[in-house]
Amino acid sequence: MNKKKKIVIDPITRIEGHLRAEVEVDEDGVVKEAYVSGQLFRGIETILKNRDPRDAGLMAGRICGVCTNSHFRGAITCVEDAYSIEVPKNAEIIRDLVSMALFIQDHVVHFYHLHSLDFVDVTSALAADAKLTSKEAHKYSDRPFRNSHAHYKQVIAKLQNFVKAGKLGPFSNGYWGHSDYKLTPEQNLVLISHYLEALKFQTNISKAIAIFGGKTPHPQTLVVGGVTSVADMLNPARLNDYLFIIKEAKEFVDRAYLPDMKLIATAYRDEIKAGLGRANGNFMCVGGYEFEGERKLFCSGIVYNHDLENIHEFDESKISEEVDRAWYKEDGEIEYTDLNEDGSLKTAKNDDKYSWIKAPRYDGKTMETGPLARVLISYKKENKLINSFVDEFLKDTELELMDLSCTIGRNAARAIESGYICEYILKLVSRLIQNIKYYDTDTWTKYDFEKLPKQTKGRSFLEVPRGVLCHFVNIKEAKIDNYSVIAPTTWNATPKNFDGLRGAYEEALIGIKIADTSKPLEVLKVLHSFDPCLACAVHIIDTNGNELSSYKIKTL
Ligand code: NI
Repeated sequence: MNKKKKIVIDPITRIEGHLRAEVEVDEDGVVKEAYVSGQLFRGIETILKNRDPRDAGLMAGRICGVCTNSHFRGAITCVEDAYSIEVPKNAEIIRDLVSMALFIQDHVVHFYHLHSLDFVDVTSALAADAKLTSKEAHKYSDRPFRNSHAHYKQVIAKLQNFVKAGKLGPFSNGYWGHSDYKLTPEQNLVLISHYLEALKFQTNISKAIAIFGGKTPHPQTLVVGGVTSVADMLNPARLNDYLFIIKEAKEFVDRAYLPDMKLIATAYRDEIKAGLGRANGNFMCVGGYEFEGERKLFCSGIVYNHDLENIHEFDESKISEEVDRAWYKEDGEIEYTDLNEDGSLKTAKNDDKYSWIKAPRYDGKTMETGPLARVLISYKKENKLINSFVDEFLKDTELELMDLSCTIGRNAARAIESGYICEYILKLVSRLIQNIKYYDTDTWTKYDFEKLPKQTKGRSFLEVPRGVLCHFVNIKEAKIDNYSVIAPTTWNATPKNFDGLRGAYEEALIGIKIADTSKPLEVLKVLHSFDPCLACAVHIIDTNGNELSSYKIKTL
């Protein structure tokens, strides 16, 4: 008798957009094969067609409701690349201030609100002792965030109210009591307390993005050639407001987020050492964000098969994208094949098409991109700013660098990254003040649109919270002729191609043991660790299937 079983999770919740996962498990509940599918169709590229290239940013920003600034900036820099327009230093700094605040917001919200409940059993926290909880928090920080007994008692009372009302509110529908939960009641309470505090954090850090972005989501102060938030830049009160929020955020990152990650890394040590959720070890980082002279905040590089001793140069000509297993025909027409005759969804297998996400490859390989790739590559390239944070984390958790290539390591990388980004922001602000002091107040490079080339092409590669974001544009007769995006989630959640290669999401699921197939918490945990953004991941192709620029990418 064939005891193989297929588990379908659709939709995966607590992510952005609509993701479906199908895993095949053997009689012991071990995952043998995985199919991850983007179930959301979008067509922003069609809207961009025939538009003025200067408008690309505002429209591309609508690709996603979360990564709004990432696509906004990606598109603006892509068009600037097409026209060879360089932006003034101050404009670059203002853009970085918006981007960096978004990094921290994204990471904190992702961990606490989208992912932490894969580790934290809310109902267990009800049994916690407030005094012992305070003591527990002290193991991971000298000054734990909001650590009084009274505070923890309040949190317990709040949870009890949820339970008494018969509703767990934001905590409903969890797999509470699952055997995969490893934290003690006190540890769970620390994390729940920070879950609630992170809601306030989210509000505040949004204000920081809005100070120089005009608003958030969907900032609107970036223009081709620079930024428009010049009055905010010159207003000391606005700079102060921004700094105040970042300093508050830094308190939370240093006293809650990083210690919580150390707590989890300690409690789940066996899982880390077993490499649970490890993908194939192909990492990609395009680097970026000026730090000191030639030094960048993130170092660029390519790693194959976990060989961190041989980091290759990133070479954009090695990027390609295919659609064999995605719901498009070779000529670009849509070919949706997932419905059975009775209207139910097919389960993916063999050589079927199974996703709206196209299949990007680097050098013919599937790549993992994101905080883990950035931290590993930057660390090995001896990045001055990052390394002390990584060293401290590894020392306190008694882990090695390679251990980070796993589910929990991706989260650790995000927390580490948030720590050094807070410091980087403070440096950026002082550099901006320095410039203003010496009367360098330029925020825009003047150009005459009529005199710019009518036919040109551009591309941009940008590190954004979830990883490498690529935008490509072809301009003809001063209008956008075609546009293409490869978002971080497109890289990580790629379907197989006829190459049969699993993407990072799928590879990370192989070998996972599921204790209770009706409650596949283990699968959710792995997928959540990538911070999926499906709205970003899906991009359509054109009816012409043209090659764009020198890239083998099917585009509009
Ligand atoms: Ni997104």
